[in-house]
Formats: sequence, C-alpha cells, structure tokens
Amino acid sequence: MTISNGKVFILNTNNLSYVFHMDETGLLLHDYFGNKIDIVDFNIDAIKQKISCQKGTSVIYDKEKNPNLCMDYTLLEFSFPNKGDYRSTPILLKNEDNGYVFDFVFDKYEVRANPEQDKELPAPHNGDEELVVYLKDKSGTVSVELHYLVFVESNVIARNIVIKNLKEKELHVLKALSFNLDMVNRNFELMTFTGGWASEMNEDKQPLVPGIYQHQSMTGFSSHKVNPLFLLKEKEASLDNGDVYIFNLVYSGNHLEEVELSPYGYVRVQAGVNPFCFDHALNKDQSFKSPYAVFTFSSKGINGARSNMHHFVNEHIVASRWKEELRPVIINNWEGTYFKFTESKVLKIAKSARKYGAELFVLDDGWFSNRNNDHAGLGDYDVNKKKLPRGLSGLAKKVNKMGMKFGLWFEPESINADSKLYQEHPEWVIKNAGTPPSECRNQFLLDLTKQEVRDYIVNNIHEILSNANIEYVKWDMNRHMSDIPGGLNAGSFFHNYILGLYDVLGRITELHPNVLIEGCASGGNRFDLGILCYCPQIWASDDTDAYQRLKIQHGYLYGYPQSCLSNHISESPSQQALRHNTIDTRFNVAAFGVLGYELIFSELSKFERERMAELIKIYKNNRHLLQFGEYRELSSNNDHLKYQVISKDKKNAIVAEYGVIQSITPQESILHTVGLLDDVTYKVDNVPVPHNIHEFGGLVNQILPVHLNPNGKIVDIASKHITMPSEKDNYIVKGSVLNNKGIILTPEWSASGFNEYVRVLRDYGSRLYVIAESKDE
Ligand code: DGJ
Repeated sequence: MTISNGKVFILNTNNLSYVFHMDETGLLLHDYFGNKIDIVDFNIDAIKQKISCQKGTSVIYDKEKNPNLCMDYTLLEFSFPNKGDYRSTPILLKNEDNGYVFDFVFDKYEVRANPEQDKELPAPHNGDEELVVYLKDKSGTVSVELHYLVFVESNVIARNIVIKNLKEKELHVLKALSFNLDMVNRNFELMTFTGGWASEMNEDKQPLVPGIYQHQSMTGFSSHKVNPLFLLKEKEASLDNGDVYIFNLVYSGNHLEEVELSPYGYVRVQAGVNPFCFDHALNKDQSFKSPYAVFTFSSKGINGARSNMHHFVNEHIVASRWKEELRPVIINNWEGTYFKFTESKVLKIAKSARKYGAELFVLDDGWFSNRNNDHAGLGDYDVNKKKLPRGLSGLAKKVNKMGMKFGLWFEPESINADSKLYQEHPEWVIKNAGTPPSECRNQFLLDLTKQEVRDYIVNNIHEILSNANIEYVKWDMNRHMSDIPGGLNAGSFFHNYILGLYDVLGRITELHPNVLIEGCASGGNRFDLGILCYCPQIWASDDTDAYQRLKIQHGYLYGYPQSCLSNHISESPSQQALRHNTIDTRFNVAAFGVLGYELIFSELSKFERERMAELIKIYKNNRHLLQFGEYRELSSNNDHLKYQVISKDKKNAIVAEYGVIQSITPQESILHTVGLLDDVTYKVDNVPVPHNIHEFGGLVNQILPVHLNPNGKIVDIASKHITMPSEKDNYIVKGSVLNNKGIILTPEWSASGFNEYVRVLRDYGSRLYVIAESKDE
C-alpha cells in the first residue's frame, strides 16, 4: 500500500491496483481498480477523472473549493445523498436535527499491518494490510470509517464501513451498504444467480442500460432466490479473456446488490445489508458495522477472476482449522429413509456404504422427540428411544466400531408448534403482536435476537456433542422468515437475528473446534461467505439429479471453490427429476467437491455397486485435487461442458466432459488443458466406462447368433454378468501438446459401429480424464 501526501491511496495486490484520492473539497474520488499499474511520483493526473464544468441542473458540491464539481457525474469513492448525487448512494441516515442531510469529508487515515480479524461479524482472516479512512460529517454529528482489507496473494479487496453517532440525538441508519465502486462503463453486462428450492444458482446475464439493477433477498437470509455473488464483465469477456469483476458479501441475511448506469455512462456498484425494513437506531457513541463486501478483478476472463475468488475463500474465509483439510466421504440416510428408520436400518445403510468408501455416517432428520414427519418435534433435543434404543452414544459407538465417524443433523433455529419447547416457551417464536405467525414446513423460527434462546440452543447442542462421539454436524434451516416483531428494535430485527446466529455458531465452533459443521438450508438457501466462516462446506442443493446438479454446481463455482460444495450421489431415477443418470455421471458430477452418498447400496444394481467400488478409488486417489485443485472451465459448446482441476505443482489434473443430448452428428472432442507444464511428460487416461448391455437395446442382436428379446429374461440375466468394454483413450504426451494442440479423443457413438475407438456417451453421459506426470519417460 502506498499513500502519498495523505491524499493519494494506492492499494496493491500481486496483480491488481486500487487507487483513489482526496480532492480539494475533501471528497474521496475513485481513480482505478484493475491490473497493477505503476504511478510515476504518485502523480495521478493521467488517470484521474477531469472535472470540467457544471452540467445543466446539476448541483455544485462546494462552490468555493471547486466551482465545477457536481457529485452526480463524479466518480466517487464514497457517496451520500442530498448534496448533489442523485444516483443510489450507499448510506441514508436520519436524525432530528439534520434530517437526512449529512456531509462527509476526509478527516484522517490509518494503515494497519497484519490486521486482526474482526470479532463482531464473520470476517476474512489473515489480511495483509488494512487501510482505514475516517470521514467526518461537517455538522460533527456522525463519523464514517471506510475499511479496506488487502489480500495480496488472492488479489482480493474486502471493504466495510462503520457509522458512529457522535451526538446525543438518536441517529437512524436507514441504509448502510458496505461499499461503493464507481467506474466508467465498458459495455458491461451483469451476471447474477437466482433460483429457488432445489434449483439454486441459475445464471442470468443482462446488458446494462441506464437505470438501476437491484438484486436482493428479503427472506431474512441470503437465500436461494438471489445469491449475493455477482459478476460484472465486459460483454465480450470470455472464459479466459476480457475484464471481469466478481463481488460477494460475507453475510447471511437480507442483502442488496445495486448496479446503476447513469446517463453519463458511469457505473456504480454497491452491495450490503438490505435497507428493506431496516432502521437501525444508534445512541451517542454507538456504531453500526456493515458486513464485509469482497471483490476481485481479472483481465483474464471469468476463469482469472474466479481463480482469485476461489483462492481467497479457501485461504481467508474458511477457518484455518479446516484449510486444505481433506473432507470425509459421507453416507447420509435422508433420501434413503426420510423419517422412517430404526437403529438397525441405519446401521445397515452405514455398513454397506462403508464397502464403497464411506468414512462418516450422518443421521439426518428424525432422531429426536416425536419427529416422525415434519409436523412435530423441532425445538426438542431428547433422543427418540423407539428409533434409537441405545441413544446417540450407542449408535455412535457402533458406527465407530465399523471404522466410520458419526455425524448428526440439527435444525437449531426452528420449532414446531407440536413440541415440548413450544408448550414451555411460545414467546420464543418470531412473531408480531398484530397477527398470528405464518408457518412454513409446519414450523416457526426461534427468535435468535434473544439471549435466552441462543443459550438454550448452545447448551443443548453442546450437551449432545459432549455426550456422544459426534465428529460432524449438518446444520439445517428450512424456512424463510416472516412476522418479524414490532417494537423499538423492529428495524434492526433482520440484522440482529443474523448476529444472533453468528453468536451461536461462534460459540459452538469455539466449544467444539474439531467438529466439522456442514451448513444447509433446504440445500442452498443460505449458501454464502458468512456461513462459510463457520461451516467449511455447505449442502449445495436438495436436488441430487446429476444433470440439474451439474448446472447448480456450475453456478456456485463462479465464486465458491469445490471444497465448499457438498454433493451426494443418489439413486437413479433421481427423486427430484425422475431422470435416469448412469452411476458414472452421478459420480462425475459429485466428485468435483465434497463427495458423499445419499442412497441404500443394497438397493443399487450389481453393476452400479461394482462401478462405485471402482469409482470411489479414483476419488480417494485424487481427493486433494478434486476438493482443492484450481478449477477452470474449459468450454461449454455444443451441449458439452468441459472443465479441469489442476494441482498447485501442475503435475496432476483431471478434465471432465459432460454431454446433454446425444447427437447423431457429434463433433470431434478435443482434450485440451490450460496451465500444465509444457516440458513435463504426462500420462493421460480416460476413466474407462464399461457398458451395461441394456444400453444397446435391440442392437445386442447384431452381435448374437440368435435373435433375443432385448427386454426379455435372457438378456436381463446376461446383463448381470456381461459388460461391453469402454473406449480407450490412453496417451503419453508432453504438457505442450495438451496445452496447445490438445488430444483428439475417440469419436462419439453416432448410430453405428462399436469398438474400442468409439465413445458411448448417450444422453447425460460424461467422462473423466486423469492426467498425471509420467514417471517412466
Ligand atoms: C432439508 C435438507 O436440505 C435435507 O437434506 C434434509 O436434511 C431435510 N431438510 C431434513 O428435514
């Protein structure tokens, strides 16, 4: 970080520079955020915006100091309303004396080396440097601190603001977004991720035209409706070229992202706590701290920017305890049994999964109280002895005896009316005096703004975790918020709930630092960087259909690394789409992240079980690469998606290819990589996919001496014993070949001919190619 004359601020990462300066009026003006630049003698004349003259009806900010500067068409580092900026501003404050007018100018700054991690809110850790710029309001009523945390190696900057009331009169914070970034439009388009239950992270793209684009959650949580992650990219930017910015928030509550294009071609980007129902009152000397926003840039396209963000999340969001810690293969009983289970049933599920590499059995919903469906029991923590006669510790012991770890599902924030807790404490439910509270999945939410509620949750979870060998927790939450209470703090409720949640999560992780907590909210209804600070992985979706799941994971991977995505292989047809996917495709999708199972192995076909026994070896041999390797999307054309993961030393990689609908005129498929070492010799092997003879339907008769009914008993019996071999794609090549020319793979099946040079992909087919340095050159 370099600062000149206390006026020019240059924040540098390995590859990026972020520049702003204070002008003669005391306002902070934004100059640059992009690839690293060298500014000669800190003279920013060349790059700064030239302030020419007042335009039309625009309001001059401070005529004496600069008769030409109008905030409305100035690139500002921070802005506020009612002094001439008629764009959306990051803050809106109110008190009795000032009304809505506060006028912030530069006061001082401070640089902190090795800044401490924020304790009030989840925050990125191990920042390299911090800059704090203090602004004071000219009436002396309010101060604002702008915080900048610099992450040099990740090429990420984190920003937040702190608003402090300096006077006796109550100050109302009505809007307090975490940052404001003004830029000149470069034919930008906005990419956002919207969805719903079991359909998270759909990619939406829109070109900017003048006006404001708002994306927000008002559900109380970050939500699957709109993830706080978004991208701003040059329209022409591709996977590997062009300017791309990625933004996200370290926050799990209502959020707002605003991108505004003004008629002068200025783009303003902002994000933070949603001002919806927000009115946070501050007494003298009290302050409001916004959550951190994080952002990065790359001129090397989406992959360049994504790689920065993935590095940042793995290094600075996920707690150091879990950094690069290999995540276990889970067997979860949910889709296998739902609420209908007994100890012996779940033990059988665990035992059979162990044969296929499962390392941790997770008992999902239904283990406590009278919870035999989703109408009852939430809020109570007493074990259902009919289902689990030996309690949790008895079950955990048996699971441990099998050589597996034991994990448990909780939904600590929720309560059913049919529960003991509700009988005792109906006042603990979030509700408004004016109307009966509305239910969702037959449940209410507990009011986490109340200390006694938080203590109840922490004490119960602590007791359960202390009395059985539980090494993993699935922390679920299955509804949107409604009916927030009235009263003086109504405007702070949504935010205070989230602070309450962080308090509970913080206390549990402190008491049980070695328990791996997996976040979940009906799947990805709270998949955000705030949760990831406590839970290093999150159940990405309740949709385990491989084809849809691939799209969902593809969406997350724009801003979240594979290590955060928990993905399970389930049965076929999938329970969500009733779609048939081969065991290979189900594996090939789940493998890019934290793989688990959610099925009953004894109910799979012999063919599927034998395949799984092979495939899980591939996962375990490459677990670090699949969970922590650098991810890069290679292409998505002709209905084919290809991506690679590559190890830090560039000596190992896996490339995946997914098809959608089998074409009769398939195009050549090239196995092409980015970033392998040109001079190193690599061994490339496809993961062979043997074919069940049923896949060929009536064509089996082409190779049989007699005609058989392809759906008849004989073919059926034969299918249990005979498989058709996979194509062979095995090569020894230099990295330079893979990086430049690429390998032309065996062609896809196209209506006729079958031999070892034909790749039978079929609808929703996929392949993995394992690339490793060849030792015997
Ligand atoms: C929603 C989760 O996403 C599921 O995986 C499962 O845990 C259920 N809740 C249990 O009620």
